[in-house]
Amino acid sequence: MNIKNAYQLSQSAQIEFASKLLDQGEVIGLPTETVYGLAARIDLSSAVEKIFSTKRRPFFDPLIVHVHSVEQAITLFASWSPLVNCLAHAFWPGPLTLVSEKQKSVSDLITSGLQTVGVRLPQHSLALELLRHVGVPLAAPSANLFGQISPTSAQNVKDVFQDQVFVLDGGDCQVGIESTIVHVDGQRLSILRPGVLSSARIEACLKSANLHFELSAPQAAIAPGQMKHHYMPHVPLILSSNPELKPSEIASQVMMQLSDIPDEVDHVRLVKPTKVEKIEFLTLSEDSLIAARQLYANLRAAANKQPDIICFVVQPIHLQPEWLGVLDRLKKASSLSL
Ligand code: TXA
Ligand code: MG
Repeated sequence: MNIKNAYQLSQSAQIEFASKLLDQGEVIGLPTETVYGLAARIDLSSAVEKIFSTKRRPFFDPLIVHVHSVEQAITLFASWSPLVNCLAHAFWPGPLTLVSEKQKSVSDLITSGLQTVGVRLPQHSLALELLRHVGVPLAAPSANLFGQISPTSAQNVKDVFQDQVFVLDGGDCQVGIESTIVHVDGQRLSILRPGVLSSARIEACLKSANLHFELSAPQAAIAPGQMKHHYMPHVPLILSSNPELKPSEIASQVMMQLSDIPDEVDHVRLVKPTKVEKIEFLTLSEDSLIAARQLYANLRAAANKQPDIICFVVQPIHLQPEWLGVLDRLKKASSLSL
């Protein structure tokens, strides 16, 4: 059966079809509550390699491994520490990735040679059904070309990979930005990537379990994949932290700093403006959880209107802790800050 015909099948037959493709060493589009993933079986190295080639992702950026149960997660870590146990039971299934020392059997290809592995139990019924059907954990980065905006619908994935990749359609992602990544090293804890699950909730959970821990900033070398730019639309995104600026003032300030906007970042080619006449303002809900859900779709919609620039005005509320995940993505997606 070819991919186009498979979309006519019932949902359970599509899970069967996706599972068969995975067994044959193919990659598939996996719905999760955060963003869609590009998944492959972790025990088939040629399939894992295919993730990197399909996404045009460099090998130094490690992959997150998805599991259907705590029992399956335990098989991936060298040890199952009390801190990991507490966080896994409190926040899984959900938008949390736990990074800890890996079991030897987890391949270096997945971890980019690191001694740690990132593991996540997603909260999405289709993803969980597929994971149970396959029976082997699935490595999956976000299903976008490297550096570009993450997909939050099945159509977003199909638009990029067309008939090259079969996508299980699990509807629009309810969280909308990638999982919070927490590194657990003994009693030391660090947040490698902020998300909708805040550090305050993580700390509160561990404190209420009377566990001893130290929360510190990540060491720079820990996450080779955490580059400065990511999630980029093709039209430059400008962050303005001055809500008083009028559009004409934003335009003239950007014009003065045009040379600071790169043509290409991490393989993403930007349409660098020669004039700033048409500005598309990116708007988001005042509720940070709804804003996270809207972020990538609204960024895509703004870029599709083909303005000279997209502008997001950072208001004082965006500096509150619950906005950390959304603001992190906006900063990484932006070409210039005013
Ligand atoms: O919500 C998510 O986490 C989504 C869905 C599909 O699960 N996945 C996702 O994967 O965002 P990706 O590949 O786009 O981002 C994963 C990032 C890597 O870039 C890397 O920075 C970090 O996770 N990572 C993975 N394994 C790591 C490790 N062992 N140590 C440090 N960072 C790691
Ligand atoms: Mg990604």
